[in-house]
Amino acid sequence: MAGRIPQTFIDDLLDRVDIVDVIDRRVKLKKTGKNYSARCPFHEEKTPSFSVSPDKQFYYCFGCGAGGNALGFVMDYENMEFPQAVETLASSVGMEVQREPSRGGPAREQREDSNKSLYALMEQVANYYKLQLRQHPERDKAVDYLKQRGLSGQIAKEFHLGFAPPGWDNLLKALGDSDEKKALLMKTGMLVENDQGRIYDRFRDRVVFPIRDQRGRVIAFGGRVLGDDKPKYLNSPETDIFHKGRELYGFYEALQANRRLERLLVVEGYMDVIALAQHGITIATATLGTSTSKTHLERIYRRCPEVIFCFDGDEAGRKAAFRALEAALPCMEDGRQARFLFLPEGEDPDTVIRSGGPEKFEALLAGATPLDTFLFDAMAEGLDTSTLDGRARLSKLALPYIRQMPEGVFRQLMFKALAERTGLELDSLMRLEIAAPEPSPTDQIWGQSKNSPLPGYEQGECERVDENFYSDPKSGGEPQPRRRHASPQRLAGFSNLAQSAIALILHQPEVARKVKTEGLQELQGQDASLLSELIALVQRRPESNTGMLLGHWYGTPEGELLNRLAGQERLIPTEGIDQQFSDTIYRLAHQLPQQSKLAQQVDKLKLTNYAETSELEKQRLREMLQEKMQRDAERNRRDR
Ligand code: UTP
Ligand code: MN
Repeated sequence: MAGRIPQTFIDDLLDRVDIVDVIDRRVKLKKTGKNYSARCPFHEEKTPSFSVSPDKQFYYCFGCGAGGNALGFVMDYENMEFPQAVETLASSVGMEVQREPSRGGPAREQREDSNKSLYALMEQVANYYKLQLRQHPERDKAVDYLKQRGLSGQIAKEFHLGFAPPGWDNLLKALGDSDEKKALLMKTGMLVENDQGRIYDRFRDRVVFPIRDQRGRVIAFGGRVLGDDKPKYLNSPETDIFHKGRELYGFYEALQANRRLERLLVVEGYMDVIALAQHGITIATATLGTSTSKTHLERIYRRCPEVIFCFDGDEAGRKAAFRALEAALPCMEDGRQARFLFLPEGEDPDTVIRSGGPEKFEALLAGATPLDTFLFDAMAEGLDTSTLDGRARLSKLALPYIRQMPEGVFRQLMFKALAERTGLELDSLMRLEIAAPEPSPTDQIWGQSKNSPLPGYEQGECERVDENFYSDPKSGGEPQPRRRHASPQRLAGFSNLAQSAIALILHQPEVARKVKTEGLQELQGQDASLLSELIALVQRRPESNTGMLLGHWYGTPEGELLNRLAGQERLIPTEGIDQQFSDTIYRLAHQLPQQSKLAQQVDKLKLTNYAETSELEKQRLREMLQEKMQRDAERNRRDR
């Protein structure tokens, strides 16, 4: 009997396939805005109500309610069982289905053994490509290309650059001399299989950059075309030994080149890393077409105290920089530093160093923006900080970010810097930090539900509290601007709070990344456990998209609910989703177990005759009342 297919494999598979390809191969799709549409294959219809979202990797039919991820689509469309659908999708992207050993078994050892052969094979591949750069009859065009980009033979050697010659099966012929070797080459992603079952080389007619892990083992390749063809760069797919979200190109080389790394640059491209090294700046690494993750940064900070991110000066660069900042905050222990360098528009480190030399680049580096300045400037954008109101808002926006930093002197300094910028007393900022009167943002809420008394108010009241919050009672009736993301407490159209929180996560999984997990079990009410499982899942796999999340509940009643909620995109506001989510969680968190149980008991007593209540129930009720009184007393004491 074949063993179970591990969930991690299914996640990786869903990460790899593109639902648009999968569906388009079976039902012709038409691009409509950012989504694709078609007439629904699951029910008769004249106008298309079947929609596929590439962002969310999810499809939904507004006509018949069918919905799901790529796997679900294949199952329903091809009428396949789950394992068969997994096989089908996996083979379409050249992955081999993994199975857990059917009974116990030394799974880990097996994996390590098979990884060993993958590493060894990748080494051979790298050597093969290096050799082609020296010997292949068409090597000149690759060598010329590298020279034209200003790279010397020496630097090509240090980075083990190679040449994947033109042709479909050079590597296949050179190294795939047995079925076993061929299978291994497939596993490393160096060979690809097409729909007709034909196997061919992934990298053809490109210069190739071996990607090495921190131990120097080749784990993947990037390859660049020699001219203007598309795609410009091709990268290895995720494999057992290569995970983009963790690896950094050039990190090993930087560690080799410097006995002690005082600082490390994070740039965007392979060529940036190499061009910098060519000019003696041997401290650059690049992420592999992904944004910088916390995992990347933890890896870096273990070896080096300062990171300087280099981005384009354009809008996209600013956005990427902000994402890097968000990843960096939780890593900012004392002694660590992060700075941000924005290059002039249209330039990258490669062009800057080639035109201005290392002096110019060093000068730019010296002027890189420190983390605090970047954070506060980004927050202050669009605010008028010359007014009291603007400064108050700045502090409200910035506090949740500072709170993500680990305890320490750096964090204290950030509070101080914020105090200086806003003109607020440090003391009162810190009080804001502790008291957190506003039902947002997320972190604040969870901190509060753990450490401070809970107001246990009913729904209607909560809304009123918030309305009061918007209008300043001391302002003499002057209209005050509402909070930036002022939003109603409940999303209309969902049957309960947990479902609206779930819908928000499915719409935009990132909202769940920052919720603190402790206390989640205390969420009360229908669908709350599904919600907390969903949050835990996003935090385990922060890169999850909607389709991947749905995959975890396939074929269960929860799965159906999730599909339905994911399809209700129309009910989700276009702005302020983070705020909406944290408000919703706040409301849920305030339905604390004891309080709502107590309320239920009291309700029950109102309906039944007290004399009919069992002795045991009365005892429980007395205990709960006592607990509540104690909590109230303690709250009063703390408030004084
Ligand atoms: P850029 O397009 O900024 O390229 O991609 P670059 O590094 O300046 O390239 P050159 O100078 O034209 O050679 C930056 C990075 O994004 C990824 C690669 O990792 C690349 O290094 N990328 C880019 C891809 O994966 N595929 C692409 O088609 C383009
Ligand atoms: Mn470039």
